[in-house]
Amino acid sequence: MIFGRVKSLDAILATAEKKSLHRSLGAFQLTMLGVGAVIGTGIFVLTAQAAQKAGPGMMLSFIIAGFVCAVAALCYAEMSAMVPVSGSAYTYSYAVMGELVAWMVGWALILEYAIAAGAVSVGWSGYFIGWLNTSFQIQIPLALVRGPFDGGFINLPAMLIAAIVTALLVKGTKESATVNAVLVAIKILALSLFVILTIPVIKTGQFTPFAPLGFAGISGAAASIFFAYVGFDAVSTAAEETKNPQRNMPIGLIGSLAICTVFYMLVAAGVIGTVGAQPVFGPGGAALSPGTPELSQACAAIHENAVVCSKEALAWTLKSVGYPFIGWLVGAAAIIALPSVILMMMFGQTRIFFVMSRDGLLPEFFSRVHPRWHTPHVITLLTGVFVTLFAAFFPVGLLADVSNSGTLFAFAAVSIAVVVLRHTDPNRARPFRTPLVHGIAALSIIGCIYLFYSLDIVTKSLFFGWAAIGLVVYYAYSRSRSHVGRGLSEEHGGDAGIPPLPVPPID
Ligand code: ALA
Repeated sequence: MIFGRVKSLDAILATAEKKSLHRSLGAFQLTMLGVGAVIGTGIFVLTAQAAQKAGPGMMLSFIIAGFVCAVAALCYAEMSAMVPVSGSAYTYSYAVMGELVAWMVGWALILEYAIAAGAVSVGWSGYFIGWLNTSFQIQIPLALVRGPFDGGFINLPAMLIAAIVTALLVKGTKESATVNAVLVAIKILALSLFVILTIPVIKTGQFTPFAPLGFAGISGAAASIFFAYVGFDAVSTAAEETKNPQRNMPIGLIGSLAICTVFYMLVAAGVIGTVGAQPVFGPGGAALSPGTPELSQACAAIHENAVVCSKEALAWTLKSVGYPFIGWLVGAAAIIALPSVILMMMFGQTRIFFVMSRDGLLPEFFSRVHPRWHTPHVITLLTGVFVTLFAAFFPVGLLADVSNSGTLFAFAAVSIAVVVLRHTDPNRARPFRTPLVHGIAALSIIGCIYLFYSLDIVTKSLFFGWAAIGLVVYYAYSRSRSHVGRGLSEEHGGDAGIPPLPVPPID
């Protein structure tokens, strides 16, 4: 009975229709929403990690990861335009492949969102520390700004920012559309400045050797840098508020990905061509993984004098090529703009928990709403505690990789769901139809498997361990309490009662 307990699509849609949100979003607003959620720690920080894994070949890694996201995005576009409710991949899976698959997807999405929020917090911390040092010559001891795997003990700034964002979410702070637009502008401006200043001084010699660790290195970097594209699914959550979704939804999803891909390629070229992006090797030429004590030691031995050692790769590059003030500005831009990515990720997490709790798969108290602030404060605080702990003790690269493993699982599930639904429910209205759906979905599934396979063994083991715990929780707790299982689904279908997105896409 793996595919049993399917939640009725009609019941889900009926609840969504009751909400009948005003369709006000155009292609431009959707694209801005996507860019706002996507640009973050991936490009600002993980560029250094990608370089350590692939060298200049990370250019290819950015293309591969962007391509997998693009085909997955086309599948998301069909599902989100057709089932425009909260819970994204979890809800689609519930309607198409049944409760167990939906549970596993929801369980994997915990990795995507909560761990990603931790990763972005650690990324923020790197820029904050660098910026404090440049601005005020304040040197905080390494033990207090890096986790134990990264040559320190605890990452206090990362904990601080995670705690602040949690507090904002508990109190129900919403980012206005204007704030989102300003933050997108700041990020675009920072990346544009970087590109304008670095591309003209590129030295082609820096691109050789192009793939010092072979294609395996390029694949490994693609699996990690995939993190830089995560977040575009935020666009799909606004499906219900979109004018002419047939046209605007794919433009928003693919448009935001295209803009980010172009920026990422140019930024990567700027880093490689100016300061070089060759990996740092250990004694005897051993390849070293990012976020390990061995790499920290090797970096200390060369006085951190390589971009792969930097926790603020873009600021470091600009300083190294003679633009310390612009480097300082780019650092400031990251410090200002990254918290909104943490906010989006943590909000995504609370929303998934909320829907799962409403479906009876998680305890009911998770979806308790604060009487005054009208926020799901219990689940937000719980999420916040875990995000803060992840941020305190784990390196950014590991967190991003683990987050990617969950995201890849969810993307693959959506790509399967879209094809299954074409066969099981061919006549349902589809405001957007994925072109060449069988080919695109197949490419997406294969791409997700390939990237998952390219993650390192520690990450894959953590993913399977997490999945095993998920199965135990499902059979020990959730299965017997499921509302669908108990015939109660209609009362709690869709996303009735869920607090709205933190970024109202448009006023
Ligand atoms: N794509 C987002 C980032 O890079 C998660 O921070």
